[in-house]
Amino acid sequence: MFHLGWFLGNGFGIQEWSAHNGHGPWTGTNVVDWMKPDLYIDLAQNLERAGFDYILIEDTAMVEDSYNGSAEVSLRRGLMTPKNDPMPLVPLIARATEHIGVVPTVSTIQYHPYLAARLYTTLDHLTEGRVGMNVVTSVTDRVAQNFGYTEHFPHDERYKMAMEWIDVVQQLQSTWKPGAVLADAENGRYADHRFVQPIDFVGQYFSSRGPLNTIPGPQGVVPVVSAGGSAPGRELAARFDVTQMAMCKTVEDMKEYREDIHRRARSFGRSTDDIKLLFLASPVIADTDEDAQEKKRRIEAARSSDAAIEYNLWNMSYTSGGRIDFGAIDPDTPVDQIDLSKQNGENSSIANLFQHTEGKTLRQVVASSYQITDLGLVGSPDTVAEQMGDIMDEVGGDGFLIYLPMTRRSIAEVSDGLGPALRRRGLIRDEYQGATLKENILAF
Ligand SMILES: Cc1cc2nc3c(=O)[nH]c(=O)nc-3n(C[C@H](O)[C@H](O)[C@H](O)COP(=O)(O)O)c2cc1C
Repeated sequence: MFHLGWFLGNGFGIQEWSAHNGHGPWTGTNVVDWMKPDLYIDLAQNLERAGFDYILIEDTAMVEDSYNGSAEVSLRRGLMTPKNDPMPLVPLIARATEHIGVVPTVSTIQYHPYLAARLYTTLDHLTEGRVGMNVVTSVTDRVAQNFGYTEHFPHDERYKMAMEWIDVVQQLQSTWKPGAVLADAENGRYADHRFVQPIDFVGQYFSSRGPLNTIPGPQGVVPVVSAGGSAPGRELAARFDVTQMAMCKTVEDMKEYREDIHRRARSFGRSTDDIKLLFLASPVIADTDEDAQEKKRRIEAARSSDAAIEYNLWNMSYTSGGRIDFGAIDPDTPVDQIDLSKQNGENSSIANLFQHTEGKTLRQVVASSYQITDLGLVGSPDTVAEQMGDIMDEVGGDGFLIYLPMTRRSIAEVSDGLGPALRRRGLIRDEYQGATLKENILAF
């Protein structure tokens, strides 16, 4: 068996909303209703029916304006803006579901560790143990500038900072030792102070005295999730993650990635069973295999449209950390002449986009290169289920993180088509084994 997660890639932001943006005819009332909880609750209830482990909610706190040096495209097309804070959505989803985990994103430059430790422990209580913490370092200068920095920290230093940040959060979430809570109404004693002590943490980036002013939630230390694919990103995952999201293009890459994370986890004295790798995939699902192949052809052809090219250049500019304006580069420039050394964002995502593109021009790369691929998962629900099983057999486990357009149609393709097809083959769970996110993700 393997695990499934859903990547809500635009966070609690405006979801697919316009045919002009290439979103097709299934956008419902997203354009006016995206800020209401309904779509997200529908998503969670549907995925829970299919036995998903968790929904990962992306977050980024800025208005992007590095492409063409302007926010015009971001605002006209609703790209990354508007976007609400994901945290208040979590208890609403939890109240409407019973089992599925919810993993909102937290940035280590936006939250002081004490604030994050307290917030996630509170969410752990409100979700009864179903919250996880997607720890990111943030990608661009614009985010850093919204939080008082003149520019973002260099890429690798951000991870050093993030590891210290997680260390403080976890120490704070461990300040109430077993035996601290007495909850003895009869004798009027709530807690025993001897078991609740400060941590007096003084680090290079953060300091916090502690203890936390609330009791541990059902999971105690809230499970850490991350997505960094660079060497320091993998180091962080190997040290702290219960589950990591990995972006790979081939089965060979997936195998290598998993082996690398396992090797690093062992070097931290961790068991490789304690970290589950979910591989990002955008499966192309339709009624029949032929329909799915036709759908794939349409998706690929649409990449050459003006709207798609503009979006991809915009996305590359963001992904570079806002340091490279891909709108200012002649699209017919050969990619080996583009200087990528200034990037300071998602370094491994940029590397991924430019992998195997030698001899191509920027226009050709934009029209053909994907950050997240279908991994060859193309077909009817039964065919895709079979293919997913084959990939997992080769890779050795642990699962997939599905990334698809946020329409009720693609949600249904997964929850009512793919999910049951996987179940018929015994490839995913029939029922939730545990009560918490941590228990479920580590159940097999
Ligand atoms: C599935 C997934 C989700 C991510 N979510 C966020 C996010 O919510 N906010 C954010 O600032 N970065 C996010 N990132 C970016 C990662 O934190 C990281 O910067 C990126 O994967 C590149 O890794 P690297 O910086 O180690 O090269 C996400 C990446 C992936 C693959």
